Order: sequence, then C-alpha cells, then structure tokens
Amino acid sequence: MSRSGENAPLAWWHAFLVFACCAHTNGTQKIKVEAFVETLCNDCHHWMLEELRPVWLDQALRDKMDLRVYAFGNANYVGSDVTCQHGQKECDGNTAIDCAIKHFAPNSSAHFAFCMFENIQAVQVKDDMLRAVKSCGESSAPGEAIEPLLRCLYGTEGRLETALAAKATMATGNRYTPWILVNGVHSNSAELDFRHALCVELPDASRPASCRETSLIRREAAPHGHFGCPNPWSEDQRKLGRDLEVVEASSADVRPHGAHGAKM
Ligand SMILES: *[C@@H]1O[C@H](CO)[C@@H](O)[C@H](O)[C@H]1NC(C)=O
Repeated sequence: MSRSGENAPLAWWHAFLVFACCAHTNGTQKIKVEAFVETLCNDCHHWMLEELRPVWLDQALRDKMDLRVYAFGNANYVGSDVTCQHGQKECDGNTAIDCAIKHFAPNSSAHFAFCMFENIQAVQVKDDMLRAVKSCGESSAPGEAIEPLLRCLYGTEGRLETALAAKATMATGNRYTPWILVNGVHSNSAELDFRHALCVELPDASRPASCRETSLIRREAAPHGHFGCPNPWSEDQRKLGRDLEVVEASSADVRPHGAHGAKM
C-alpha cells in the first residue's frame, strides 16, 4: 500500500472538517427551515402568526433563512383519500396553502398562508372556502393570478401537491404539529421561540439588529402549558396514498430511484 493511499481517508476527513467549519461561520449560508403545519391546529395558528410572521416581516432576518412550509400536519391517507385531524375543512385549507406555494412567489405564498390561518376558523361551507381563498389571494398576493390556485385546490393538481406535502411530512416522523426542522434537525426551540432559534444559529457578525438583547434570551414556556397538536397516528398506521405514485411516475426522469421517504 502506498502512503498516499493511507492518507486518503485523512485528507477526506480534513476536507470535511474545513467544510463543516466554514459552512457554519460563512454568513452567506442560509439557515434551512422546514415547517410542517395544519390549518386548524391552534398551536400552528399561533406559530404561523406569532412566531413565523414577525420573522418574515423582519427583512434582515428573513434573508438569513431558506423557508419551506408544508401543509399536511397530522393528516393521513385512509384508502385513497386524505383524512385530516380537524376534518375536511382543514384538508382544503392545507391544500390551498400547498397550491399557493406552488403557484405564487415566496412572499405572496407566505402572506397568503398567514391570511388563511387568520380566516379559516370562520369558514363553514365550500363557498366560504372559495371566498376566503379569493379574498386572501387578492389582499395578500396582489399581482398573482387566482384562477390557477382555484383550479389546483379542487383538482388533480391539488391532490398531487398534497401527496408531496404528505411524503415530506411523513419522512419527519412528526409526533405533533407544528413540527419544525432547522437545518434538517427537529427543533423544539424553533417551535417555542422561532426568532431566538434563528438568532442563535447565526454567527455574531451576521446577526441582524433584531437579534440583539431580548431575542437572545429564549422564552421557555409554551403559551398554554403544553405544546402542539398530538399526532393521532402511529408510525405504522401512517401511509402514503396512490396519488404519490402518479407524482413519482410523472417525475421519474428527474428523480433518482430509491428516493422514497427522503426529505425534500
Ligand atoms: C410581501 O407581501 C406583502 C403582502 O402582499 C406586502 O405587503 C409586502 O410589501 C411584500 N414584501 C415584499 C418585500 O415584497
């Protein structure tokens, strides 16, 4: 065996350490945030409006993160249909958000989601849902065409977007919602105090002004003693529906085989 052969793993390990070091301290590296929510869970309502929204409105801090929201939460496939924790209205609200994420620009879909979380409680019938979706689209996503969103909501596309959100959600093994991953790792502190969780991830030099002082002290207590809507399904009860096969078949050319269950 040559010496260079023996050293190769060491060189690789060294390269890894350099990468690990600088990926963190380099201020241009964004914090990856994945939020798994459902529209009628009170703690999701709280997290979206009181934790995420203030951070989203803080441009300097928003620029430090790469956010992806998945609306599926504690739902599951029973037969070929999705069953949601809080009924069909929740499923439709989730799909509206998943469709908006697909069709709208990021800022528009974020504000659309905030608007839906604010208004969905008052929805009683399908017509109210359509009204809420239209009105949230107009007020929160000006300049975005609403027709593609409405077609997505009650059509095949909405089922497929839901299937993708389901796949990403189930891969996390979430025990409750909201379930937040920071750089791929479940973060209870991001669920309880999102600003704090982001600020502590950032190196001193790249912390925006809003990270100073109080936001570096973590709020410990959940708003009402316990946190999250518990997931009623066990790991083996949760399963993906056939819609996912349609998605995977239509994207087989771009997706590597064996990627089932991988995080998106
Ligand atoms: C984001 O969207 C909201 C709601 O439509 C709007 O008020 C705000 O100006 C937008 N912000 C940016 C940076 O585009």
